[in-house]
Amino acid sequence: MELTIDGLSAWHSAGAHHTRVLDRVTVALPAGSFGTVLGPSGSGKTTLLRVVAGLHRDASGSIRLGGDRIDELPPERRGIGLVPQDGALFPHLTVTENIEFGLRRTDRRGRRTAAMLDLLGLRRYADRFPHQLSGGQAQRVAVARALAPAPALVLLDEPFSALDAALRGEVRDGVRAALADTGTTALLVTHDQNEALSLSTRLVVLSDGRIRQAGSPYELYSEPVDVWTGRFLGDANILDGVSDGTVADTPLGPLRHQAVAPGPVTVLVRPEQLRLDPGAAAGIPGTVRSTHYVGHGGIVALDLGRSVTALARITATPMPLPGSRIAVAVDGAVRAYPATAAAP
Ligand SMILES: Nc1ncnc2c1ncn2[C@@H]1O[C@H](COP(=O)(O)OP(=O)(O)OP(=O)(O)O)[C@@H](O)[C@H]1O
Ligand SMILES: [Mg+2]
Repeated sequence: MELTIDGLSAWHSAGAHHTRVLDRVTVALPAGSFGTVLGPSGSGKTTLLRVVAGLHRDASGSIRLGGDRIDELPPERRGIGLVPQDGALFPHLTVTENIEFGLRRTDRRGRRTAAMLDLLGLRRYADRFPHQLSGGQAQRVAVARALAPAPALVLLDEPFSALDAALRGEVRDGVRAALADTGTTALLVTHDQNEALSLSTRLVVLSDGRIRQAGSPYELYSEPVDVWTGRFLGDANILDGVSDGTVADTPLGPLRHQAVAPGPVTVLVRPEQLRLDPGAAAGIPGTVRSTHYVGHGGIVALDLGRSVTALARITATPMPLPGSRIAVAVDGAVRAYPATAAAP
């Protein structure tokens, strides 16, 4: 079901201190979509999920699920499944019993559990206890347990962060398929940029309890509202420039950008926008400082002179040699932000 969070603020108390950790957060998630809240550690992600689930009550604002207000309801009546940050399986219950935990004792209970075991590829582990599972299997059980009662919304708190890179991709795909299969609306929180960009249909960036930007992953990566968000979403070259309103004069030459007030700007250029031409005379001259090869391509660190450096991402080609001279061109439009006097 559709989730609408409006003007949500939340507080934590520690001793005499009452601190606001969420500040007027607004999120709109269409039914069946996969939303991700991306934010650094301590930005308020877990708090947000706990408020939506009804486990943290020191909050104000409204939460609607399928159009109905749920913020006054006790957790068990909200129709929400939560996969907590630590998975939190019951250690004395088997995989099957863990999944059955939230289901009412009806005839259909066995069938529903079997369907969840199949959906998440857990049939072989049905009779094991949590300590007999790998990290990835345990995470899948936690997701199966949350999905078993067919919730209107499932909340996932960094469900893949404890898994190694290879397993993470596999479990992620399994969970995404399970959610799509059941048509469940999902809200995941993570501090992992790649995860957020690859999983979500809608992405929200949270910092210090406030939303910086919301939109599709593509929108946020290609049109970040500010330098912080742009850097947080991926590798970025940040350069000083002077703009005439739509073209900035920068160490990488004149770069076209969205309309801004003319004057000093900070320009954000993604490394994959840089094109390197080893032999060429045309383009901005640079020197290769170092390279980082990753098989399908690599990152080239460039020296542009006057202590300006830049990173270029190149694909499937031999790495240029450190020390070699190279010409640099920039593909496509870049982002420019008016330079503030306070910027270092
Ligand atoms: N029980 C609590 N009492 C007091 N302050 C808390 C409590 N839980 C969290 N906080 C504070 O609230 C802020 C947000 O915490 P939260 O756990 O929501 O962040 P997070 O984004 O989930 O971080 P992480 O990525 O590390 O899990 C932090 O500054 C944290 O110190
Ligand atoms: Mg957290």
